[in-house]
Amino acid sequence: DEIEKGEFGHFMLKEIYEQPRVIKNTLSGRISDRHVLEEAFGVKSKAIFDQVDNVQIVACGTSFHAGLITKYWLENIAKMPCQVDIASDYRYRNIIVRPGTLFVTISQSGETADTLAALRYAQELPYVGRLAICNVATSSLVRESDFSLLTMAGREIGVASTKAFTTQLVALLLMSLVLGRRNGLDEESEAAYIRDLHQLPDIVDKALAQDQAIQRLSIQFADKHHALFLGRGPQYPVAKEGALKLKEISYIHAEAYPAGELKHGPLALVDDKMPVIAVAPNDELLGKLKGNLAEVSARGGKLFVIADESAGFDDEVDYQLVRLPPVPEVLAPIVYTIPLQLLSYHVAILKGTDVDHPRNLAKSVTVE
Ligand code: G6P
Repeated sequence: DEIEKGEFGHFMLKEIYEQPRVIKNTLSGRISDRHVLEEAFGVKSKAIFDQVDNVQIVACGTSFHAGLITKYWLENIAKMPCQVDIASDYRYRNIIVRPGTLFVTISQSGETADTLAALRYAQELPYVGRLAICNVATSSLVRESDFSLLTMAGREIGVASTKAFTTQLVALLLMSLVLGRRNGLDEESEAAYIRDLHQLPDIVDKALAQDQAIQRLSIQFADKHHALFLGRGPQYPVAKEGALKLKEISYIHAEAYPAGELKHGPLALVDDKMPVIAVAPNDELLGKLKGNLAEVSARGGKLFVIADESAGFDDEVDYQLVRLPPVPEVLAPIVYTIPLQLLSYHVAILKGTDVDHPRNLAKSVTVE
């Protein structure tokens, strides 16, 4: 039964472990061996996608972080500019719409008051269309948008979003490919991305296999009051999502920074009481990230690095490691999210918080 915890102590953990399956469900019927099956976006989508050369994303909370990651995909894959806004901010701004802009909302529930209000505001503006990436087919957001792509996460009960986030990312990567196709992405490159996507459920499974290693590390967080998360490029929003999870369910003040900004402030906070968590896939920014981490070590910061096993992090004197298998670069934001979800879960368990119902928070914020 979808809404039983089964062998898991909490819905959050169950939902974390469901990710390989729900990612598969979100891909199912939407990709062939070599292509995105565009029909999945609905009959109205083609005429709208054909006009798009710019994207405006609006969302709240974890869904906003999915938007921040999508900006990198749109730039890299679709060669398109993208703006990402928090719905509560967007709805009260004087928004200027460039011709050819697609408006995209991202929401697990499809009922978040600020996101809905942003969509209603956007109805009055000259967008080429309004797309909802949403987990609830019957939601207001889906009903009021021109078209939608549903995430197939199934019902998410834990207040801290996990499987909804990773399935949103999958849906948004499909959108990036569909837009890319219209903007110079050739067939072979699309086919290579699709091959990567077919591997994703298995790679997520391998990330989940680090659960015990992460649980062991979590002991070192339980008595901390602060934590700093670092990432570069698309791993910066991943770090933001890791920090949000830790705040939401462990009640530890956590902040995320783009690693290159360390020297502009947060380095002043680093001492031996400050755990610093870095997400380090083997990408072109790895060398830069290593330089940033050396600055943390030099100041006695306690470093925890989630790294590609081939990224050359061998010396465990300066940092503690969680190793992940090599991941195709485009998928790294999805895969590196998993250990951070597990970390916040285990820290929350050690602290004895109400993991599925953290204090003061609601699953769906339907009032402003
Ligand atoms: C609340 C939830 C978060 C969620 C956010 C946006 O804050 O606790 O988990 O990310 O709302 O919700 P939505 O349903 O629009 O994705």
